[in-house]
Amino acid sequence: MTRSRDRGTESFVKELAEQNKAFWVGRDVRLDADAPPEVLLSQIRYRMRQGVYNELRSVELIAAWIPTVREREIRELLPRQLEDEQRHYQLLRQRLRELGEDADAYEPLPEWQALFDWLVACRARPTVEKLAMFQFAGETQSCEGFETLIRLAKDLDPETAHLYRTQILPDEYRHAAIGRQALLLLADTPERQAQARAACREMNVRVFGTYQAHRARSDRKG
Ligand SMILES: [Fe+2]
Ligand SMILES: [Fe+2]
Repeated sequence: MTRSRDRGTESFVKELAEQNKAFWVGRDVRLDADAPPEVLLSQIRYRMRQGVYNELRSVELIAAWIPTVREREIRELLPRQLEDEQRHYQLLRQRLRELGEDADAYEPLPEWQALFDWLVACRARPTVEKLAMFQFAGETQSCEGFETLIRLAKDLDPETAHLYRTQILPDEYRHAAIGRQALLLLADTPERQAQARAACREMNVRVFGTYQAHRARSDRKG
């Protein structure tokens, strides 16, 4: 890999991160910062219920992808991510229990199920695409989403905000960094860069559709 190619890849990754960030402006509709406190708290609870499912499916997803990631530098980072997601699942489930809820009784939103089913099926796609989708685009948006959740939950449910801030968010930043690292390593030709860009776009559009469905159901059911 030449020095000029290194610089080219770095600026590509930086540009793609900016494009993803621009896509998400105003699009994470899961929480409404202007809602009355009781409505916002019920939106936060709904996020947590669905979050238990999402963390568990993330474990399954990483487990499904590991055998297909042949690039050793990337593959060796994934078992720790799997463990993190498993821990997040347990922590969120436990927190809901403390709040008097049976997390296992929650019926996950079909759109989230479909999103994870699709991601699992993407295991056959090249590593540069998979990691662009889930770790680079998805986990980066998750970090933004958690930052918002923590900020809005800080006064309404400080214990939950503390859990997300100290036990979950730092791991999610590390997961997003795995995506960045994968692209820096693999998105080193115009063809691979085009693949990575298209994969991010595909993921963002799908996740946005899921967020819209999530909010609609959260508004209906609380
Ligand atoms: Fe997680
Ligand atoms: Fe994660």
